[in-house]
Amino acid sequence: MIDKKKLIRAAIQAREYSYSPYSGYCVGAALLTADGKIYTGCNVENAAYSPTNCAERTAFFKAVSEGERSFCAIAVVGSPKGALTQYAWPCGVCRQVMFEFCDPESFNVITAVSEEIYEERLLKELLPLGFGPDNVK
Ligand code: THU
Repeated sequence: MIDKKKLIRAAIQAREYSYSPYSGYCVGAALLTADGKIYTGCNVENAAYSPTNCAERTAFFKAVSEGERSFCAIAVVGSPKGALTQYAWPCGVCRQVMFEFCDPESFNVITAVSEEIYEERLLKELLPLGFGPDNVK
């Protein structure tokens, strides 16, 4: 059973570290591995803009670069600086990164405005008919 409240809490904490001086849009993510570990991430912006990394990809790259390959769920929280006022569904690039490492039939994407108020979708709903590792085998 996924402890969704714990995962959302971790994403909310990670958002505190958001480096977003250009957009002012602060995002946090918490990625749950199959064996129950949580890797967090925030968005990291750049004066040249395009090197900006989303919170979800920060969490994935931290986890993958430490040897993790199996994931169950991710919680994402994002809003302009301050209170969480909206659901922040992952951007297309982050969905593609998820598709590389996760089973679209079971990977759970949660976006929240609080521990109690959230929505969730399977990755296959967010990226139907995706291009992934199976295509290039
Ligand atoms: N951002 C994320 O961190 N995740 C997303 O899925 C969408 C956008 C960040 C990138 C940028 O720093 C800011 O939000 C505004 O686009």
